[in-house]
Parts: sequence; structure tokens; C-alpha cells
Amino acid sequence: MKTQVCIIGAGPAGLLLGHLLRAEGVECIVLERRTPEYVLGRIRAGVLEQVTVGLMERLGLDARMKEEGLPHDGFNLADGERLIRIDCAELTGRQVMVYGQTEITRDLMEACDERGLEVVYEAQDVALHGIDGDAPHVTFSKGGTSNTIDARIVVGCDGFHGPSRQAIIGTGGGREFERVYPFGWLGILADVPPCNHELIYANHARGFALASMRSATRSRYYIDVPTSENVEDWSDDRIWDELATRLGPDAAPHITRGPSIEKSIAPLRSYVFAPMRLGALMLCGDSAHIVPPTGAKGLNLAASDVYYAAEALTAFFQRSDNDAIAAYSDTALARVWKAERFSWSLTRLMHRFPEDGAFERAMQVAELDYIANSRAAQTSIAENYVGLPV
Ligand code: FAD
Ligand code: DHB
Repeated sequence: MKTQVCIIGAGPAGLLLGHLLRAEGVECIVLERRTPEYVLGRIRAGVLEQVTVGLMERLGLDARMKEEGLPHDGFNLADGERLIRIDCAELTGRQVMVYGQTEITRDLMEACDERGLEVVYEAQDVALHGIDGDAPHVTFSKGGTSNTIDARIVVGCDGFHGPSRQAIIGTGGGREFERVYPFGWLGILADVPPCNHELIYANHARGFALASMRSATRSRYYIDVPTSENVEDWSDDRIWDELATRLGPDAAPHITRGPSIEKSIAPLRSYVFAPMRLGALMLCGDSAHIVPPTGAKGLNLAASDVYYAAEALTAFFQRSDNDAIAAYSDTALARVWKAERFSWSLTRLMHRFPEDGAFERAMQVAELDYIANSRAAQTSIAENYVGLPV
């Protein structure tokens, strides 16, 4: 097989990039290790910035998002005593959209046939070759048959555990920046109405809690737990009790309990790999960076990488202009580092770290009080939450 761009991974980054390239007449093939059902079964992000919404609009794949998504003007920080509302719309003139990653992925998947985006699911043993030259190729097997794709550019959209970043590390290139946190987020999805019409991020003496949603009838909640915890030890009742305590007296009476549809624990990590390109290989999304979920930035960063990568690849294939590809890593990383900073600082503010003493706790109290009383502090949080410009 031969194509212009071989994309590895059909998560949101890979599918978005594939559609943007096809819309510009660039040839591409996407390779995905899992089945479509498996990809859609992963419950992840729920909050979209304008960059992500804008790309779906540009593709004309925003109809269901406009119909079913929930535009939110703001969100809340709970500090145990009060709710501090961050009015993003008033402070920045912008909103966020509550619409699940699963739904975006479904919208992108369902448009593949009609738009001529070829995705090979259940592609096993994907391996990258010759990425430091002009003629890379990717090998994989499917149904016992070995295949080779010759491409001009390979884009790694294969998440944190995929082979693309490892291919750069294998050449001795790149540098890793990492911070691992001593807790994970235990998430529960249930068909019950949300306890509040906007999200609540709570810092309670027993730990962090987040009240989120997917629709007026489907709620998504999280609590932080030590990384050593097993999800099997958390019955639904135990999670609901903990949420009621941590979300505090304003929200607790409004929590509707119900059986979980999904429960899982996600570890928290800050990670950046630089540079995000080596020769003919570009990295997008979680393959190059991870943020702790506190700022709702992961999927949106994947979308902004894809935005830059699509612009660069279109310039290259339509006009033989190599400048944007050459600048891709610096351009993408400038935005990545700011989102890393925001996610790290909100994680620091809203979680109780086991190593923290009285001083660190006093710093959290002081910062939350400052935010509660300062329009400048609220504006800074709001402009990061709705997303910095691309
Ligand atoms: P992925 O979604 O990981 O997709 C990578 C794809 O590559 C997968 O389909 C995988 O199967 C495939 N792949 C892997 N290895 C191979 C291989 N060897 N060969 C072929 N294919 C391969 N982000 C937000 O913006 N907002 C939020 O509210 C938010 N909440 C989150 C909550 C949780 C609990 C979690 C876990 C994450 C959250 N995120 C959030 C982060 C967000 O989900 C990720 O950043 C996003 O999925 C990144 O997309 P991606 O396409 O880069 O990677
Ligand atoms: C959700 C996840 C997040 O990480 C976040 O910050 C807000 C909402 C969610 O899954 O709904």
C-alpha cells in the first residue's frame, strides 16, 4: 500500500486529523490496533474547548454536537465552605461545550465511509521504519497477513502507550519531562440527572471530587483515590457516599444515586515529550503529552496539535511548503506547555497530597480565598479553562 500520510491510532486525534487531511485532498490511511467498539467503549473526556468544537464545525460534523451538547457558561470550585463560580462567559466572552469524547469519536467514525477516510481496525504489531529519512514505511499484520504502507509522512496519534514516541526514543532522540501524582481518579458514569447544572471541582479534607455530566439524564463523577486502590473495592454505594461527603452540603442533597454504567480508575500524570517531530514522524495528542485531567485539557490539546499538524501537512502536500512542518514541534509545544502548567496548578490547588503539611494546606486556602475575591484571578482561570488561542 502507498499513501501520503500514514496515521497511527484512531482515537480522537487520529480520526480528526484523517478527516481534515481528506477534506484538503491529502491521501491518508489510519491504522488502529483495537476494534471500533473497543475504542467507543473508553469513557474519557467530557469538556470541549472552542478549538475542538471549531474543528468539528469546519468538517461539517457538528450537527449532533449542536443538538445534544451542553454549552456551559462557567464552572465551580468548591473549597469545603462555599462554591466559587468562575463565570467564563462573562470573563472571557467564551463558553465550553459538554459533549463526550465517545460521541465525538462516534461522529468522526460514522463519517469515514462517506468521506473516503480509510481506517484499518485490528491492525496488529504496528512498527515504524525509516522515520529519519524521506521515505518512511509502516508495517503491521491483520488476520495473519503482513502488510506494508509506504508513506511520505507518518503521524503518531497512538496515545501514551503506542509505538510512535518509542520510535523516536529508539533513535536516541527526544527528552521526557514527567511528574507522576500519588493518586488516580475513580470515575463513575450513571443514568441519573446531574447534581448541578455546571461542573463542580471540590477540594475536601477527604480528597478531591468532581461532579460532571454527559446530558440532563447522565452524570459523570470522579473522586481521587490512592494509586494502590482497586476499582473492585469500590461498590457504587461507597462511591456515592464519598461523593456526597466531598462535594459538600450545597451539592450533596441534589445528588441522585443510581447503578453505575462504567467505573474505572485513571492514574494522574504530567508528561511532555520534546521534540514532537523527528524527520518524517510527527506526534499528536497523548502520544506526545499527558496532562492530569483536572483542567479538562487532554482531548483539547490533542485537537490543537491536530490543527497545527493539518495546516502543516496541507501546506506541504498542496504547495511543497515545508516551513510549517519544520516549525510544528515548537508551535505545538508552546501551547502544550501552557496547558501543562494550568492542569498542574489546578491539580495542585484542588487535591490533598499525602506529603503536604500545614503550610501547603494554608497555601491552598489562601489561593482559593484569593480566587474567590479577585476578578483578575478568576479571569486567568477562565481564559485557561475555555482554552488559549491556537
Ligand atoms: P487516545 O484517545 O489514547 O487514542 C490513541 C489510539 O491509538 C487508541 O485508539 C489506541 O487504541 C490506538 N493505538 C495505541 N497503540 C496502538 C498501536 N500499537 N497500533 C495502532 N493503534 C494504536 N481530556 C479533555 O480534553 N477533557 C476532559 O474532560 C478529559 N477527561 C478525561 C477523563 C479521563 C478519566 C481520562 C482517562 C482522560 C481524560 N481526558 C480529557 C484526556 C483525553 O481523553 C485524552 O487526552 C485523549 O483521549 C487523547 O486523544 P488521542 O487520540 O491523542 O489518544
Ligand atoms: C470531565 C473530565 C475532566 O477531566 C474534567 O476536568 C471535567 C469533566 C468529564 O469526564 O466529564
